Amino acid sequence: MTSIAALNAADRATFVAAIGFAFEDSPWIAEAAWERRPFDSVDGLHAALGDVVAGAPEERQIALIAAHPDLAGRVARTGRLTPASRDEQASAGLDRLAPEQIARFDEANTAYRVRFGFPFVIAVRGRDQAAILAALERRSRNERDVEIALALAEIAQIARLRLEGAVSA
Ligand code: GUN
Repeated sequence: MTSIAALNAADRATFVAAIGFAFEDSPWIAEAAWERRPFDSVDGLHAALGDVVAGAPEERQIALIAAHPDLAGRVARTGRLTPASRDEQASAGLDRLAPEQIARFDEANTAYRVRFGFPFVIAVRGRDQAAILAALERRSRNERDVEIALALAEIAQIARLRLEGAVSA
């Protein structure tokens, strides 16, 4: 656990090392948000990080979405997830799927990727595997712009939950 006061006093590298993980494999967001110190709260920090994402060009936003591994996918099954993603996927039971469920996820993840060119992202904490698979199949029918916006909103929620576990007021 770090604190808002410690983050406000941190140099850029320390800041990024402490909270960069809130956005999957995308330390550029924390690097840019560091310029916006001081933060008055976890809310304020989260809002500043969100502003960086919102102000980024669409290609960077899509690179952020694309940094996420498929849920219950090959990266997960071969033990190569980031610790945050591993914990989230385990909390939703995605590390304990039966072979038929894995096959359904693989099929739906692939169809989603083929349609949009990026992976399906959803904040999985508090959802079970049936709800996640239903959302994956439902969202596959959306328009691409809608999915970009939804994925970024889910990523903001994932970051919020990650920050809450790592930063105290
Ligand atoms: N939701 C929470 N963590 C992840 C992740 O690592 N990948 C995807 N696709 N969605 C997530």
